[in-house]
Amino acid sequence: MNPNSFLSVFNRQKNKAPRAKARTEKGRDYPDRFDVPEDKAPWNKKLSGYKPEYYVAPVVIKNDETKKPEDYEGKDYWAHPEDISLVAKEDIQSHEPLQFDAEGFPLNPRGRTGIKGRGELGKWGANFAADPIITADDPVTGEKRLLLIRRKDTGEWALPGGMRDKEEKLLSATASRELKEEAGISVDMSLAEKVYEGYVDDPRNTDNAWMETSAYHLHLTPEQSAQALEAGDDASDARWVPVSELLSQSLYASHKDLIKKALKLS
Ligand code: BGC
Repeated sequence: MNPNSFLSVFNRQKNKAPRAKARTEKGRDYPDRFDVPEDKAPWNKKLSGYKPEYYVAPVVIKNDETKKPEDYEGKDYWAHPEDISLVAKEDIQSHEPLQFDAEGFPLNPRGRTGIKGRGELGKWGANFAADPIITADDPVTGEKRLLLIRRKDTGEWALPGGMRDKEEKLLSATASRELKEEAGISVDMSLAEKVYEGYVDDPRNTDNAWMETSAYHLHLTPEQSAQALEAGDDASDARWVPVSELLSQSLYASHKDLIKKALKLS
């Protein structure tokens, strides 16, 4: 086929991998991202003139765990200090091999994002979250259903997940706590199957701070799934959604991919 024919150009575009959210979207109040073409994202590729803006959200500075300002009422101080030389090397973490730049800043494992600093994320390096993927059979029709919540922050449907608390050693404990807080049901997620652990493409990611999640799948017993759902905390709604309706829904962050992985859908 002529490589410039309409069909070959169309197919080429169709096969192009979508651009990363971490290079095209951004968190609240972020400056514009420096434009990074996907093929120039890896740190070992040259991108001459790369001068991203530096951004750290005021809420991150306020939550510096080494300061505990008296006038701030937050229950936890969840952020590293802004001065990275005050952070112990072992407190900068990732499920992926870590790389640092000449100034000691950790480098995003998926390459340049067009913004330096931590943005809205508290930790230098990986910021850990956990996502429960909960399925159960419909008691009447027997159809498989999945538990989703509607997030208050973006209005999108999402898994009832969230960020790890300081004292949580196991991310499955984070998943159990979030499930209770966001959807109102009590389930021990230490018995669930871990279906993913690692980097996630998230609009808040920067060159030096990024999200990593651990996703756990559990199919509930009829007794467990009979618990009443109650949207709480960061959710405005919690619902069982038939799995057959999921693929046509647009979901928060990378949740659709996580669900597809867990349920082996494509
Ligand atoms: C959400 C998780 C999500 C993670 C990465 C967290 O804020 O609560 O559900 O997987 O961000 O996008």
